[in-house]
Amino acid sequence: MRTASPAQPFTPAGVTPAGVTPPGSAAPSLGVPSLAAQYQRYFPIGAAVEPETLDSQGDLLAAQVSSLVAENAMKWEMIHPRAGNGPDSYDFTDADAIVDFARARGMKVRGHNLVWHKQVPGWVFKGQDGPATQTELLSRLQAHISSLLAHFRDRVYCWDVVNEALAERTGQWRTDSPWQRIAGSGSAAPGIPAYIEKAFEYARAADPTVRLFYNDYGIETGAKHEKAMSVVQALAGKGLVDGVGIQGHWSVFGPEPETVRRAIRGFASLGVEVQVTELDLSLYRWGDTSVLPEPRPDLLAEQAGRYASYFRVFREEAEAYRLTGVTFWGIADDHTWLDDFPVKGRKDWPLLFDIHHRPKDAFWKAAQW
Ligand code: XIL
Repeated sequence: MRTASPAQPFTPAGVTPAGVTPPGSAAPSLGVPSLAAQYQRYFPIGAAVEPETLDSQGDLLAAQVSSLVAENAMKWEMIHPRAGNGPDSYDFTDADAIVDFARARGMKVRGHNLVWHKQVPGWVFKGQDGPATQTELLSRLQAHISSLLAHFRDRVYCWDVVNEALAERTGQWRTDSPWQRIAGSGSAAPGIPAYIEKAFEYARAADPTVRLFYNDYGIETGAKHEKAMSVVQALAGKGLVDGVGIQGHWSVFGPEPETVRRAIRGFASLGVEVQVTELDLSLYRWGDTSVLPEPRPDLLAEQAGRYASYFRVFREEAEAYRLTGVTFWGIADDHTWLDDFPVKGRKDWPLLFDIHHRPKDAFWKAAQW
């Protein structure tokens, strides 16, 4: 439920100003413990939200998480829909509602995202006649990043600066990205596309206090892992990146928890922090388009066991200072992007709470050890 609490000054997690309900301390429904409280000494527990879910899932969020991220509200098409860089070009309404909800409850906020090949309005890539030039595109990028980081200064503690720049399997740069096509060439860091290096430079210059992440999926192993390692190493060498976000859109079929552990250790060895940023565990194998009418009990049991194993890895890696955050892409199965991806309109049940906000076995496995 959204409340009319006044905005509070930003404080790091665990330090709560007087009069603010600390995260995880809202009346837990039916004696359910708070995941955020259980994990307080390890890392913040986050969830992706929409303005609507602050209402429909507000009590659950208030009780269970200590960090929020906007599922869509900070993406370019939502927050900067109109050409230009004046106040009329931006719409901060939904993003501000999310940040206000978080701050009123002493929660942290992750920023998602500044550069992505999806959910960007067409005008960004258009020039006078034909596509924008590299110079035009980079100057729009700089304006966008400066405006967002100024607007959210001291209210958003980290940003996914570049999201999903790498192609699947090959780990080469994405060819389906207009960023890559228009502003992929040239960079001072060898092997890094100009738009990536520039995005991090602009963000660092706009707010030297905010932590800057490279965020992607499928970077646990293989060619994509190796490439992500080399990108982050090159950017870290120039002091431009502070963290890697492993999205964590996984399933009951994998990856193996030890594979995830190796990935966390690999990125951490580059001297950057690592977070799991978009965790959910689909009941479907990747590529399977069949439809389950109900969540099958054996799959839910497998899901619970997997969550238990992942969270054991997360705790152990956090204790060794290699993992600094875990964010779910949602909080309960009544609202998940997987209902429309990869198969539109197919129900999935990837989260810790069911469609009625009751804790699943997966919740108990993650919360109790
Ligand atoms: C998804 C949202 O959840 C959907 O509502 C939207 O329609 C598409 O984007 N990786 C990301 C997220 O980095 O931004 C995506 O979010 C999910 C995959």
